[in-house]
Amino acid sequence: MITTVATTPFDGQKPGTSGLRKKVRVFQQANYAENFIQSVFDVAERAPASTLVIGGDGRFHNRTVIARAIRMAAANGYARVLVGQGGILSTPAASHVIRKYGASGGLILSASHNPGGPDEDFGIKYNIANGGPAPEAVTEAIHARTQTIDRWLMVDGGEDVDLDCLGTSQVGDMVVEVIDPVADYADLMEELFDFDAIRTAAGHGLSVAFDAMHAVTGPYAHEILERRLGFPAGTVHNGTPLEDFGEHHPDPNLVHARVLYDLMMSPDAPALGAASDGDRNLIIGKGVFITPSDSLAMLAADAHLAPAYAGGLKGIARSMPTSAAADRVAEALGIPLWETPTGWKFFGTLLDAGKATICGEESAGTGSDHVREKDGLWAVLLWLNILAVTGKPVMQIAAEHWARFGRNYYARHDYEAIATDKAGALMAALEASLGALPGQSFGPLTVSAADQFAYTDPVDGSESRNQGVRVMFACGSRIVFRLSGTGTEGATLRVYLERYEGPDGRLAEETPAMLADLVAAAEAIAGIAAHTGRTAPDVVT
Ligand code: G6P
Repeated sequence: MITTVATTPFDGQKPGTSGLRKKVRVFQQANYAENFIQSVFDVAERAPASTLVIGGDGRFHNRTVIARAIRMAAANGYARVLVGQGGILSTPAASHVIRKYGASGGLILSASHNPGGPDEDFGIKYNIANGGPAPEAVTEAIHARTQTIDRWLMVDGGEDVDLDCLGTSQVGDMVVEVIDPVADYADLMEELFDFDAIRTAAGHGLSVAFDAMHAVTGPYAHEILERRLGFPAGTVHNGTPLEDFGEHHPDPNLVHARVLYDLMMSPDAPALGAASDGDRNLIIGKGVFITPSDSLAMLAADAHLAPAYAGGLKGIARSMPTSAAADRVAEALGIPLWETPTGWKFFGTLLDAGKATICGEESAGTGSDHVREKDGLWAVLLWLNILAVTGKPVMQIAAEHWARFGRNYYARHDYEAIATDKAGALMAALEASLGALPGQSFGPLTVSAADQFAYTDPVDGSESRNQGVRVMFACGSRIVFRLSGTGTEGATLRVYLERYEGPDGRLAEETPAMLADLVAAAEAIAGIAAHTGRTAPDVVT
C-alpha cells in the first residue's frame, strides 16, 4: 500500500552542490532525508519502470536511510532497485553499476571525506544515467523542488529488505536485488589493467601498503590486491568499513594518513604507499610524496602502459586549482587539456563526449572514462601497473618526470570553520582588488594577471561563474583563493599555492621552502589574518 506523507519545504541542499550533506542529527529529523529523496524522484529523468541503484559508504545512519529509500522508490514507480550488500557501494562502484545495468540513476549515501558517527556527517547525492554526479541543471531542479515539496510517498507494511542477504525480494511492485558490491567493480579493474604483470611483479617483490581508512574501499582492496593480485594478507590496512571510520576522517591526505606517510618515509617502506576512502586517493613512494596534481600528470604520461589506455588518451581534464603539471603532459602528447571548475561533475560532459580520457583534482580525486566518478583504487592500480611494467621505483619515475616536464611545487592551505560572514568579506575584498593587482610586486613575485575563474562547458554550453580567484605571477607561479563547497561548519578558505620550476630548474627542493614567498604574498593580497584572525592554516596538504 502506498502512503502519502504530508511535509513542508525545507532549506537543505545548497544550490549548486551535488547533494545534501549535513550532520546526522539533521538527517534524523522527521521528513528530512525523505524530502530530499522525494525531490530527486520528482525531478529525475527516468523512463517508466526504471532501475535505481542505491549504496553508501557504510557510515552511521546508512542502513536507516537505505531502508526508507527502497520503500520510497517502490512507491515512486521504479521497477527495480539494485542495492549493495550491507548497504555498501563505493562511489566509483556505484557509478559502474549504474552504467553496467542501464539504471536511470543512483542514490549514493556518503559524506565523502567528512567524519561519520552519530555526531558527525551524513550525505546523499544523486547520480544520473551516465553514472556521474547530477549536473547543475539537475541539482538546481532538485533544489527548487525541495522549496515547494508538500508530500512524499512510500510503500507501507512488510519487513524491510534484509540488506545482508544476497538475492532478490519484492517491495510493493518493485524488485529489490541485493548485489555483491565488489564483484562487478573488480571485474572491470581486471579488464583495464595488466593483472598478470602486477601479479608477476608482486611475486618478485613489488610491495604495497594500502590504507583503506576503515572506509568503504576496504572490501574492494582486499579482493583486488590480496585475492586477485596476490599481494600478501596484511597489505590492506584498516580494511574493515566502520560506521565512524574508527573515529578518523576518511580523507586520504597527509594529515589523516599520517601513519602511512611515516611508514613510507622509514627504511621499512614498501615500493608504494596508498590510501583511499573509496573515491579519493593518496600516493606516496618510498621516500617521496606525490601530490595529487603530480600523480595526475605522471599517470597521464605513462597510462599507455596499461591495456585500457594503450591506444593513447583523448585528452586530460583537471580542475582549475589543480596544478598545471598535467598541462605539460597534454602538450607533449599533443592532446587537449581541459580546465574545469572544482567538482567531479564538470568532467562528465567531457568524458561522455570523448574529449578527455583521464581527469583529476588537487583534492585527491583521479579517474578516467571507465566510470563517471573519481576512483581511488583505479589510481592505485594504474600506479601498480606502471611500477610493474617499468620496474622503476616511484622516486625514479617522479625524478624522470620532473626532469622532462619541470616540477610544479604545490600545497593547499586550509583555514577551517571561519565565520561565514568573515570569509565572505575576505572574498569580496579580494574580488574588489583584482583590477589593481596586475603589475604589483610582492617580494620577488610580480602579478601578471588576476581574475575570477568562469567556465563555459565546451559540450553543453552551460556557464559557471565565481569559481575561485586566480592570481598569476610573471614567473609562472600562481595563487588561487576559493571557499570550499563541502564543509558543514562555517566556511573553509582554501589557498592553493603553486610554483613552477622548469626542467633545468631546482627540482629536488623541500616544498615549504619553495613556496614561502607565495605564502607571504597570499597573506599580503588577501589579508587572511586581518579578516579571520588566523595566522596559520589548520591543514596543509
Ligand atoms: C568533492 C567533489 C570534488 C571536489 C571536492 C572539493 O569531493 O566530489 O570533485 O574537488 O569536493 O571540495 P571543496 O571542499 O574544495 O569544495
